[in-house]
Amino acid sequence: MRYVYLIFILGVVGMVSILGPRGSKSTKPPLEVFPDMDRMPKYHPQAESGFFADGRTDRLPVDGSIARGTYIADEYLATGKRGETFGKGFPIEVDNDAIARGEDRYNIYCTVCHGGAGDGDGITKKYGMLTVANLTDARLSEYTDGQLYDVVKNGKGLMYGYADRLSVEDRWNVVLYVRALQRAANGSAKDLTPAKREELGL
Ligand code: HEC
Repeated sequence: MRYVYLIFILGVVGMVSILGPRGSKSTKPPLEVFPDMDRMPKYHPQAESGFFADGRTDRLPVDGSIARGTYIADEYLATGKRGETFGKGFPIEVDNDAIARGEDRYNIYCTVCHGGAGDGDGITKKYGMLTVANLTDARLSEYTDGQLYDVVKNGKGLMYGYADRLSVEDRWNVVLYVRALQRAANGSAKDLTPAKREELGL
């Protein structure tokens, strides 16, 4: 029986000396019987890296990466280009709904600078933004549809692109509405049917 007490006491002393007094704060590193993955060689977000040439630990996606679910197989729909050149025509359904949607988006995103009529007379002019393009210019009327789409998507010169604010479909809807504005600004009696011209005495 004596031995049993002795083993018990030795056991308790052993436990206490290995585990130490629990529950008190200490700045010393804890005893690590199994360190597992407590410490790993790793980079912290935004930290400096001696490994990469640009010194950044945060890496950008590899050039040409396409986020899952965003790949568009139709090149013209996605870029406005057929091969190397900008194409003509609309890869979306052209109807009154598309124009109405285009007008709605145009009035939200473009009117401030280009004006409701597309003539470059938006509110920002009052505040000193003087180089805004007149979308009804002959120069821009001669742009192909794909070229206009490219400006909306990627921006141009001082203008910011709208790739992150307008969906692919909406960018084309806006281009369609810009076409309508160009027609409206440069229309003539020749655009009317002969019957309508006669009716108006033109
Ligand atoms: C913050 C002001 C601003 C907004 C908003 C804006 N634009 Fe522009 N846009 C400009 C300026 C400035 C230019 C002239 C860019 C240059 O030549 O440096 C321009 C030029 C253009 C051009 C002619 C580009 C060329 O090749 O000459 C088109 C087309 C155009 N914008 C369409 C749009 C459409 C469509 C929208 C709405 C989706 C829009 N813009 C929204 C400021 C704006």
